[in-house]
Amino acid sequence: MGQDKMTVGLVYGGKSGEHEVSLQTAFAVMGAFDYNKYEIIPFFITKKGEWRVGGRLSAPLASLDKLKLEHGAGDTSAAVQLLFSGLSGSGKGLDVVFPLLHGTNGEDGTIQGLFEMANLPYVGAGVLASAAGMDKVVMKKLFADAGLDQCKYCYFTSSSWERNSHEHLQAVEDELGYPCFVKPANLGSSVGISKASNREELIQAIQYAFRYDLKVIVEEFVDAREIEVGILGNEEPLASVPGEIVSSSEYYDYTAKYLDGKSQMIIPAELDTELAERVRELGIKAFKSIEGSGLCRADFFVRRDNGVILINEVNTMPGFTPFSMYPLLWRETGVSYAALLDRLLGLAIERFEARQNLEFENGVQ
Ligand SMILES: Nc1ncnc2c1ncn2[C@@H]1O[C@H](COP(=O)(O)OP(=O)(O)O)[C@@H](O)[C@H]1O
Ligand SMILES: [Mg+2]
Repeated sequence: MGQDKMTVGLVYGGKSGEHEVSLQTAFAVMGAFDYNKYEIIPFFITKKGEWRVGGRLSAPLASLDKLKLEHGAGDTSAAVQLLFSGLSGSGKGLDVVFPLLHGTNGEDGTIQGLFEMANLPYVGAGVLASAAGMDKVVMKKLFADAGLDQCKYCYFTSSSWERNSHEHLQAVEDELGYPCFVKPANLGSSVGISKASNREELIQAIQYAFRYDLKVIVEEFVDAREIEVGILGNEEPLASVPGEIVSSSEYYDYTAKYLDGKSQMIIPAELDTELAERVRELGIKAFKSIEGSGLCRADFFVRRDNGVILINEVNTMPGFTPFSMYPLLWRETGVSYAALLDRLLGLAIERFEARQNLEFENGVQ
């Protein structure tokens, strides 16, 4: 009977600020699988970036600590060998991989590239969409191209800042004014982000953001409700009901997101039907604009003064514990956590198969 089950490689941990969150997600996901249908092979990536691979599981591991695979696990080369087993002719060890990683190296196209090289189906966005969804500037250019409204912004690299800081400050003041938001272009979880209300604060905020990235984006401040929607699918994606984030602090910073537990998620968001429908449509548009696949969470600002809907960002690997916005939005829409896992694995296989028959060489045989 074992052969009928699908083998899922669950990849979690990672050399990232969201290592612990990823472990919690993996523990929840592992507990929610239907083990009549799936077998799991756990792949843990340590904070140093080393891999550990465990044996085939037909039941979840008993504790979060066990997910670190301390005893008897295979090392990085064993993990890589297993990932590439379908290519090396040593028998296909995995049917699909499910990366539960956030941020750098997990959500930015790098690990997706590894799975592409190994010719493995994987859950979620491909290389391009992952990379685009990680870079706030590239993302904004794609949104603009799709005709989505967004806040005004400027951006510059650190070398350009070194050379022309005065011009950049002037441009921010002329085009955006105060207050404004300063962000590293490529991080998530509100890391490196600050609000500036005058030139002195702006300079500090820019210097701070450059500690985290070589490219910084500055945005006009928008006084808005934060509305998020879950997207699920490939070519014809569906949108969940929208939810609202009510932050415990002035804005949704790292503390408000992860530490104080006081921020609220209101699901579904209290929006009139027309506005809710519009947000769902725009969420799908945002997903398509980055060429998403599988899943994403699209985050919007709805201006308090005039109700205009602005896209803020998309997350191609949104928080995925059972208490995170994305799964809760789908639960409210009628898709349980376990059903969501089924659907995501199905979408990974569909995307893989659709690409299998593509030709990669020019010529007639
Ligand atoms: N332009 C802006 N105007 C007002 N608030 C903002 C703006 N940009 C970000 N914020 C606040 O900062 C939070 C984090 O910014 P965001 O761009 O979503 O970064 P991250 O990728 O880290 O989630 C948002 O959830 C929101 O509360
Ligand atoms: Mg955000």
